Amino acid sequence: MNRSLDHTTSLRIAIQKSGRLTDKTTDLLHGIGIEFDNYKRNLMVKTRNFDVELLLLRDDDIPEYVQDGICDLGFVGANEVLEKDSKVSVLRGLNYGNCRLAVASQKESELLKPTQFDGKKIATSYPILTKRFFENVGVSIEIVEISGAVEITPQLHLADAISDLVSTGGTLKANGLIERFTILESETKLIQTQQALSEGKQQLIQKFLQRIDGYQTAKKSRYILMNAPTESVETIKVLLPSMKSPTIMPLAQTGMVAIHSVIPYEQFWDVMEQLQDAGASDIVMLPIESMIA
Ligand code: PRP
Ligand code: ZN
Repeated sequence: MNRSLDHTTSLRIAIQKSGRLTDKTTDLLHGIGIEFDNYKRNLMVKTRNFDVELLLLRDDDIPEYVQDGICDLGFVGANEVLEKDSKVSVLRGLNYGNCRLAVASQKESELLKPTQFDGKKIATSYPILTKRFFENVGVSIEIVEISGAVEITPQLHLADAISDLVSTGGTLKANGLIERFTILESETKLIQTQQALSEGKQQLIQKFLQRIDGYQTAKKSRYILMNAPTESVETIKVLLPSMKSPTIMPLAQTGMVAIHSVIPYEQFWDVMEQLQDAGASDIVMLPIESMIA
């Protein structure tokens, strides 16, 4: 691999500098074998073993940097991509940083349904998505555009309600607000610029995507091991929701085998009980670091 960071082949990737997505994004990058450090102190970080440099930005700025081709790829919430109406390609949904853009009003407020908002003021950092939502339901509202601390505006009588991102709901609760309805569901997306890229960069992106896919499949899977009497093998094979045929090995103890397989994590508990009923014992489940088909 060419390790010199020349501009035509080295990928530049935008990630959030500090916020909800930062830790999970850096975990993912480390998880796919990209090594770097000091990302909290620098705006630009060169990685040690992959032709990638990271640009640390405010999440709101990421769609534009990618659209303009300053960065080739970016990790950012769908909420930002849609709010900015960015011309970028969404390569992958990454199933972390899940949140929703929702409308919330004060506990005692009578504003509960979209149709009740005619002529009301809504404070938000997402004016485009919020306006579009109410236009679609034929309700005319006034937007109070605010870049931070949107949740205190109803208390200050600056707005009748807010439209903001909700993840755990902690921020709303702390401010006496109740979530009323959802405008948009969001998760982290991997986006790519639509500007022309060199052959070298395109190849790097393919490699990068293959690693991400392997990492994501691994996250959703578990390696499962168990012992079972030989006569149970056929029943157990049917029960295992394996991606591939299981590995079966004889044990020193006659009449017993060890069965190894990879299964989707979400099915583990249901399957485990059925496996026990079928005669399996010593069932062990292990996480998987990465999987390449
Ligand atoms: C969002 C939103 C709230 C918080 C809600 O901010 O503006 O402040 O998250 O999360 P909770 O429901 O878990 O309390 P975000 O992380 O997008 O930060 P930013 O506005 O600085 O980009
Ligand atoms: Zn933001």
